[in-house]
Amino acid sequence: MTAETLSPDILKPVWTDLPRLPGLNWRVHAWQRVGYEVSVVRGLLSPDDPTLAHACGADGTAVKRCFVVVDETVDSLYGEALHDYFTAWRIEPEWHSVPGGEDSKELDHVVEMTDAMMRMGILRRSERVVAVGGGACLDLAGMTASLYRRGVPYVRVPTTLLGQVDAGVGVKTGINHGNHKNRLGTYYAPETTLIDPEFLRTVEPRHITNGLAEIIKMALVVDPALFSLLERSVPGLDADAFADGGPLPVEVISRAIAGMLDELEPNLWETVLERAVDYGHTFSPSLELLADPPLLHGEAVAIDMAVCVALAHGRGMLSLHDTERALGLIRAAGLPLTDPVFTADLLTGALADAVKHRDGLQRVPLTSGIGRADFVNDITPREITRALEFVASYAEGAHGVRVPESEGAAS
Ligand SMILES: NC(=O)c1ccc[n+]([C@@H]2O[C@H](COP(=O)([O-])OP(=O)(O)OC[C@H]3O[C@@H](n4cnc5c(N)ncnc54)[C@H](O)[C@@H]3O)[C@@H](O)[C@H]2O)c1
Ligand SMILES: [Zn+2]
Repeated sequence: MTAETLSPDILKPVWTDLPRLPGLNWRVHAWQRVGYEVSVVRGLLSPDDPTLAHACGADGTAVKRCFVVVDETVDSLYGEALHDYFTAWRIEPEWHSVPGGEDSKELDHVVEMTDAMMRMGILRRSERVVAVGGGACLDLAGMTASLYRRGVPYVRVPTTLLGQVDAGVGVKTGINHGNHKNRLGTYYAPETTLIDPEFLRTVEPRHITNGLAEIIKMALVVDPALFSLLERSVPGLDADAFADGGPLPVEVISRAIAGMLDELEPNLWETVLERAVDYGHTFSPSLELLADPPLLHGEAVAIDMAVCVALAHGRGMLSLHDTERALGLIRAAGLPLTDPVFTADLLTGALADAVKHRDGLQRVPLTSGIGRADFVNDITPREITRALEFVASYAEGAHGVRVPESEGAAS
């Protein structure tokens, strides 16, 4: 696909009816080339492996500096191995650790990191920011790297399942503001993302489950084969299974990343706002930070997906059999289907916010058969109420008994 076919409007003047005086009117257009690699590299921290060193611009001969942003938990678990690796490759890291979790995605941390980069005097092109941590650490470090002198190169090393299949794969960075997820953020490509599944061995079970939510999302909207694979394997897909790297978990990770990149690559800057990968991200961005006790990102996405599964069923887009398969997989993965904060009123408000995010239309992706998404623009509060009731019935074990009243409900 050429740049021209992606956004032909950019070449046209905005005001076609105004006179253009020679010498007093200019039109600028330019294309930004973006290229980065996402690679799975086992044994990334083994001093014999040159991949991370090369990503930092080091070859082991001359001293090389980089600015390392590391999640505190990852620092305590892998800090020594990271230091040993950098020493072996004559890399002098400027170390900056940040807390894991949503609390790190705050403007204060962007400012602190900026101050630390200034103290280091990081060179603008040849020294990298290297982010090592979960999605929160990557979002924060990526955003700061994109802002510092309007952009310094950065390298991502995601260490959670969610980071490896989602946050580490695209070009979005962000921090939270005013109880809203990613209200401030940038599109900023890394130079490279290096994924070592061995990091997953120490990830807590709840955070593995959290990452599974984004994998289930990809299965539901673009990859029916991944869905079947997950149905067969989900209870056994734990931290050790991913870290050991048997054929099945490898295929799950590989399909999830490939499916995500296939969706992102032609629409990296979200020129098109109908995005299948926004599945499960319609209501959740407004509600994730309101839940008490807090929900993890993937948990909020799972509840949003459950509502969307029921909405699709209510519209006749998803058979009862597939509806139950979808809800069954979310539940089998250990993810929640409901939460007290997901009320009809709050969901309706969250949808209104999504409309602003999606430039005036709902553009809600719903599954029209497992592995396929269609977009709808006319979801009503009544439908949301019925969808919530349907999911609640299913969650209580009375599945199948409360098909949402709708003329078109498939069975
Ligand atoms: N930019 C994007 O495109 C994108 C996509 C999806 C999600 N996200 C964002 O990602 C964030 C969630 O990411 P997450 O689920 O990785 O959460 P996280 O970064 O908070 O990490 C989860 C927990 O795991 C710990 N941890 C990290 N690596 C570990 C390891 N190897 N061993 C043991 N513990 C480890 C962290 O300290 C933290 O406590 C959310 O803020 C979400 O908005 C961004
Ligand atoms: Zn997400």
